[in-house]
Amino acid sequence: MTSSERSPSPPSSSGLLIVFEGVDGSGKSTQIRRLSGRLDKRSLPHLFTKEPGGTPLGIRLREILLDPALAASPLAQLFLFLSDRTQHREEVLRPALDRGLIVLSDRLSEATMAYQAFGAGLSRELVATLNKVALDGLRPDLTILLDLPVEALEERLSARAEGRTRFEGLGRDYFERVRRGYLDIARVHTDRTLLLDATLSPDLLEERIAEELLRRFPGRFGP
Ligand SMILES: Nc1ncnc2c1ncn2[C@@H]1O[C@H](COP(=O)(O)OP(=O)(O)OP(=O)(O)O)[C@@H](O)[C@H]1O
Ligand SMILES: [Mg+2]
Repeated sequence: MTSSERSPSPPSSSGLLIVFEGVDGSGKSTQIRRLSGRLDKRSLPHLFTKEPGGTPLGIRLREILLDPALAASPLAQLFLFLSDRTQHREEVLRPALDRGLIVLSDRLSEATMAYQAFGAGLSRELVATLNKVALDGLRPDLTILLDLPVEALEERLSARAEGRTRFEGLGRDYFERVRRGYLDIARVHTDRTLLLDATLSPDLLEERIAEELLRRFPGRFGP
C-alpha cells in the first residue's frame, strides 16, 4: 500500500498525479521527457499530458491562449485556461488516475495562480475558487517546481529559435512576479512540493527528481 492510499482522503484516487511547474524555459519539458524515459525503461505505465492543450478542445484553446496577436484580457484568459482545465480533468486526468496510471502533467492549476493572479494581477481568491471548481477535488500528489531566476530565463528564451508566445513577451517585472508567486505557493504547500533550482544541470535535476519520487512513493517507484 502506498502512502497516498493510506491517507484518509486520497489526493488522486489510485493513480499518481505529478505536476511540473515553473516559468517559461525553466526545463519542464526536458525533465518530463527524462522522467518518462526512466519510467519506460522500467515498464511503469504512465501518461504524459499538459496544460493548456491536453485534449482536442485544449489544443484549440492553446492556440488562442498563446497567440500574442490576439487580444484577450487577463480575465478572459482565465476563463479559457479554466475551460481547458475542466475538460482536461474530465477527459484525461480523472480517467487515467482511476486506471491507476502515473500521470505527468506539464503545468496545472498553480500556473494559473502564478501567471494570472501574481503575474497579471487578478484576485488570488477568485483564481483559487475557480481552480477548485475546475479540478473538482483533484489535486497533485507532488508538484515539482523548477525555480529559474529571471536573468537565466531571458538567456534561455533568447537562445530559442521559435517566435515568442503571448507570455514570453511580457517582460522582466511580469516574470519576477510569476516567479515569486510560484515560490509563495510552494511555501504554502511544502508537504507536496519539490522545489528545485532550475539552473542546476539537467542530469542533476533528473537525479533529484528520481530520488524524491522513490522517497515519497516507494510502493510505486521502488525496486
Ligand atoms: N537544467 C538546465 N540547464 C540549462 N539549460 C536547460 C536546462 N533544462 C533545460 N534547458 C534548456 O532550456 C531551454 C528550455 O527548456 P524546456 O523547453 O525544457 O523548458 P520548459 O519549461 O518546458 O519551457 P516552456 O514553458 O516554454 O515549455 C531548452 O533550450 C533546454 O535545452
Ligand atoms: Mg515546455
